[in-house]
Amino acid sequence: MIRKCLFPVAGYGTRFLPATKSMPKEMLPIVNKPLVQYGVEEAAEAGLNNVTFVTGRGKRAIADHFDTSYELEHQIAGTSKEEYLVDIRHLIDNVNFSYIRQNQMLGLGHAILTGEPLIGDEAFGVVLADDLCIQENEGQEGVLEQMVKLYNQFRCSIVAIEEVPVDEVNKYGVIAGESMGDGLYRVTDMVEKPAVDEAPSNLAIIGRYILTPDIFEKLRTTPPGRNGEVQITDALMQQAKEGCVMAYKFKGRRFDCGSVDGFVEATNYCYENIYKKG
Ligand code: UTP
Repeated sequence: MIRKCLFPVAGYGTRFLPATKSMPKEMLPIVNKPLVQYGVEEAAEAGLNNVTFVTGRGKRAIADHFDTSYELEHQIAGTSKEEYLVDIRHLIDNVNFSYIRQNQMLGLGHAILTGEPLIGDEAFGVVLADDLCIQENEGQEGVLEQMVKLYNQFRCSIVAIEEVPVDEVNKYGVIAGESMGDGLYRVTDMVEKPAVDEAPSNLAIIGRYILTPDIFEKLRTTPPGRNGEVQITDALMQQAKEGCVMAYKFKGRRFDCGSVDGFVEATNYCYENIYKKG
């Protein structure tokens, strides 16, 4: 059973400055809901009811969001506006939140390693909340839920992948793998932000992972890679060499909300397809 989910949220979100000068990128709203809430809802739907945030300076708004706001709630009690808080109250009542600080921004791999004391020796999910994943039709499972099912079958680390235009591979971790059908690949190679002509494929890793706990040992001994950051892809490649890592072309739609273009696209999509339909 996977019960825990890690949200690395310590990054600076420089692409959204000045909006992110004093506000976490993950609190930017897609219509009326912050990005991070979409991610936590996806984790909770997959049964991952223990959520750990790896935070940094200036991220207190996230902890406040997942807590009761007595004054505000008292103010709107008994009015129709209470309805706006139904979903967030449900999360607060059903999810356990914990926080740990990454005090140096040494990369995503380092952020994940920082979460080790709160994860311990069990497999866990990782969500990068700026990748917003939306089900395209009624009844479709969330991406994490799809991945948890695969984990229960294969018992190894799993990364979510998506085909991206060839000239965009340099923004992602990119895999090569043996196809096993149904959008599943057994990873044989993995490169972080490769040059366009050096990429092993156009299958890009997006911000959803299931990791087995031996990843921590691998991260501890992973030297800083690209940009001087400890890369999760380097540690995953070690796992792939010694055992098995699967890559999964998920069902659903993903928006790169860490970029302004993706953020605007997500906003328009969610306004038309979720907000307006109630
Ligand atoms: P990004 O590089 O996409 O996010 O990191 P960023 O640094 O916040 O954004 P820009 O590029 O400056 O606009 C991917 C994820 O990893 C987390 C970020 O918070 C984001 O969710 N991260 C990255 C950490 O938690 N710690 C780090 O040291 C680096």
